[in-house]
Amino acid sequence: MDTMAGLSRTHHCGELNKENVGAKTVLTGWVSRRRDHGGLIFVDLRDRSGLVQIVFDAAAMGEEAFHKAESLRSEFVVAVVGNVRERSADTVNKNMATGEIEVVITELRILNKAKTPPFYIQDGIDVDEMLRLRYRYLDLRRPEMQANLILRHKVAKVMRDFFDREGFLEIETPMLMKSTPEGARDFLVPSRLNPGNFYALPQSPQIFKQILMVAGLEKYFQIVRCFRDEDLRADRQPEFTQLDIEMSFMSQEDILTLMERLIAEVFEKTLGRKIETPFLRMEYDEAMRRFGSDKPDMRFGMELKDISDFVGGSEFKVFNSVLQAGGRVKVINVEGYADIPRRELDGLVTFAQDHGAKGLAWIQYSNEGVKSPFKKFYSDETFEKIKEHVGAKQGDLLLVVADTDKIVAQALGELRLEMAKRRNLIDEDKLSFLWVVDFPMFEYNEEDKRFKAMHHPFTAPREEDVEKLASDPAAVKANAYDMVLNGVEIGGGSLRIYQSDLQEKVFAAIGLTQEEAHEKFGFMLDAFKYGTPPHGGLAFGLDRLIMIMAKRKSIRDVIAFPKTQSASDVMSHAPSPVDEKQLRELYIKTTAKKKEKEQA
Ligand code: AMO
Ligand code: AMP
Repeated sequence: MDTMAGLSRTHHCGELNKENVGAKTVLTGWVSRRRDHGGLIFVDLRDRSGLVQIVFDAAAMGEEAFHKAESLRSEFVVAVVGNVRERSADTVNKNMATGEIEVVITELRILNKAKTPPFYIQDGIDVDEMLRLRYRYLDLRRPEMQANLILRHKVAKVMRDFFDREGFLEIETPMLMKSTPEGARDFLVPSRLNPGNFYALPQSPQIFKQILMVAGLEKYFQIVRCFRDEDLRADRQPEFTQLDIEMSFMSQEDILTLMERLIAEVFEKTLGRKIETPFLRMEYDEAMRRFGSDKPDMRFGMELKDISDFVGGSEFKVFNSVLQAGGRVKVINVEGYADIPRRELDGLVTFAQDHGAKGLAWIQYSNEGVKSPFKKFYSDETFEKIKEHVGAKQGDLLLVVADTDKIVAQALGELRLEMAKRRNLIDEDKLSFLWVVDFPMFEYNEEDKRFKAMHHPFTAPREEDVEKLASDPAAVKANAYDMVLNGVEIGGGSLRIYQSDLQEKVFAAIGLTQEEAHEKFGFMLDAFKYGTPPHGGLAFGLDRLIMIMAKRKSIRDVIAFPKTQSASDVMSHAPSPVDEKQLRELYIKTTAKKKEKEQA
């Protein structure tokens, strides 16, 4: 095998252009593609910057050197010396950034060979994601994956520069911390030095960043890994990265405005896209009512409309019983889809049921007249009135769900997204930002039969709602806000409680006794007695933000080494069983059967 001795790289492959014509160049990289034309071999050479065509010409370089070029295979690592020449007009490759030139090679050094990769190292491949994850080093060699990581780096850089300029300090907080309940499940780490005791990996630096405010640091940020042992989805990983922010003496409006400036700067400086500020602000209640979601995708309409007033008091039992129980009947209008195939309608019923609805009905304003499973219960006039009320036209399809507010929102909210996809209503180039504000403070947990904090228990209730904390917790709204982009919650935060007595009232509302609260958060409550400034903040999901910026469907595509659906790393095989000795040192015995461990 050759070495690089005596050579140093003069250019990156992707940066060569007509201005380099005539230059002698030393390039390094991987063989991307090789084409043999008798005495001529063309190779696309790839490094991080891109591709360039290099040419081996038997006549020019001699038999022996050419012979070596014939041995090149995909993903061999090479260094070459050559001269840049302009391509003739008929051989220019417009699909390649360097397509106007090529490099005629005078010397080839093969630095390393490579096994045949299990998939092509190129963009847009259709390969099982498990295979890509198993060979992540090859997957990450693909230009589109490198572009995602480069974008991620740039975004983080712009963020750090922004906060530095604004007087924020990046401060690290512990990865081994006290397990605190509320929120998701903790990942636990056993302590060898404290038998039977466990650290938790942080779900977020929430408590520490608030204590930094007590400590007088005033403006904090951190790009930080967070850990949550939850069920995974396309936009959820067990370890993910937050841009975490906290600041003192700022109003909610100050915070939202600053964050809009941050986001506008990030998009402008990395993608060159201008973002209009201020963002739309929408109350949680309105978002749920109009879009059936607390993270509405505003790139298209199809709002939920209430038709309860038109369908009440009839013979149709389904609607009657729902309305009598205090529920609603609402619809979405799928424009121009009155002649939806019956098969698809049946599928939508199942879809609605999968999202909590008991059933799904419809009104088709078709050319053959109105079609609906409840047609016989209502007059033509009623169907006309409904049509007018929801702004539907001839040829439109209404999907109808009757249930409690919550279920209607859930089922129609999901149907709205699904139908927008099927009907191709989403402009993928659009960026629709908004703030959802005034979240409810608490959410009733059916399983535990008690209220839980909707955001977290340190979130401040709205001042005017404080008196309702004990009497009517469900009606209390919080000074909490989420930033939503294209239907994805990319960030969320709140003003915090900074007075101990109010904090205790909130703990009481979620059923934590004084003792329990002190056992769990005592250090924080103690700290709060030493002069806590008013403060607030938020955290962005960095992976989600980059996912949208890079136009990807999964955050796994913007994380170098993500986990699979079952929270495992198929490249390094984590998690894995450990030695008995390791466990003994940690005073741990597992109850999992050996076989299960081996499967994992
Ligand atoms: P929250 O729990 O809303 O707030 O998290 C903030 C943001 O982090 C992202 N996110 C995730 N991304 C990927 N995988 C996950 N499992 C995951 N979970 C959350 C989301 C979310 O908006 N400490 C508070 C913030 C604060 O109040 O300041 C917090 O963690 O984009
Ligand atoms: P059922 O009485 O369950 O057979 O329902 C009769 C029709 O009412 C069904 O075909 C559906 O079209 C409709 N339907 C049932 N439940 C609901 C519901 N929760 N919301 C809307 N329509 C419903």
